[in-house]
Amino acid sequence: MYRIIKKEVLAPTLSLIEIQAPLVAGKAKAGQFIILRVEEGGERIPLTIADFDREKGTITCVFQEVGKTTKQLGTLEEGDGIEDFVGPLGLPTHIKDYGSVVCVGGGVGVAPIYPIARAMKEAGNEVIGIIGARNKEILFWEDRMRAACTELRVATDDGSYGRHGFVTDLLKEAIEEKKGLGLCIAIGPLPMMRAVTNLTREYGLKTMVSLNSIMVDGTGMCGCCRVTVGGETKFACVDGPEFDGHLVDFEEMARRSVIYKPMEQLALERYLNEPEHKCCCGRGGGK
Ligand code: FES
Repeated sequence: MYRIIKKEVLAPTLSLIEIQAPLVAGKAKAGQFIILRVEEGGERIPLTIADFDREKGTITCVFQEVGKTTKQLGTLEEGDGIEDFVGPLGLPTHIKDYGSVVCVGGGVGVAPIYPIARAMKEAGNEVIGIIGARNKEILFWEDRMRAACTELRVATDDGSYGRHGFVTDLLKEAIEEKKGLGLCIAIGPLPMMRAVTNLTREYGLKTMVSLNSIMVDGTGMCGCCRVTVGGETKFACVDGPEFDGHLVDFEEMARRSVIYKPMEQLALERYLNEPEHKCCCGRGGGK
């Protein structure tokens, strides 16, 4: 069992958990992820590492309750345990001095972009942070990002906080103001990452995106996380999760990301409606 030592509700359906996992924390680097199972027989879900503390031996993850497993995870409190917690998985972000780096986080993507921004600044970069959310209520970690970046720009879709608009509006301004940006890293919902890459392509700004494809084993064996990058098949779990955004086939990714939607919907309905929350194989948990 991996103990939750801290839980914080950041916004309705958006929570942070800090998990005691010293072996994972000892090796974790910015850009990597973990896979957890809430309980025996449960679904394996990947979550990006939002922070780690080697001394305390903890990993911090932020998640949004969207389906059965994340809703179930959201019911756990401090002191509760998680059945499995595997990581760190994936390749870490390539951290070096690029001169100036722009780090863009949209929605829950603000969590994984934070340790990357911090590491990029520690490596000597000027870091321009751009974060955005649909509205003020679900915007989080502005304080952490402000500390991690050289400067921070904030937008909300509805204008309830920061600039009224999208992160791409702020990114366009930053690119035009700051000549010679060395790299853009964008993490967030697929449409947002796609919009960022469409913009930066026009300016010839190299852009890395972190792909949140569906995963099962997380070690390159099942093929579930398959993505096409530059015309080649890659596995997001072992070849990524970060890839050159200008080479990613976002259309294919979008198609593949919804292939289990009917089953996910069914699992969620069963979880919400059936008191024992049995999975379809008759055991507790899972789909
Ligand atoms: S999750 Fe199975 S190959 Fe990547």
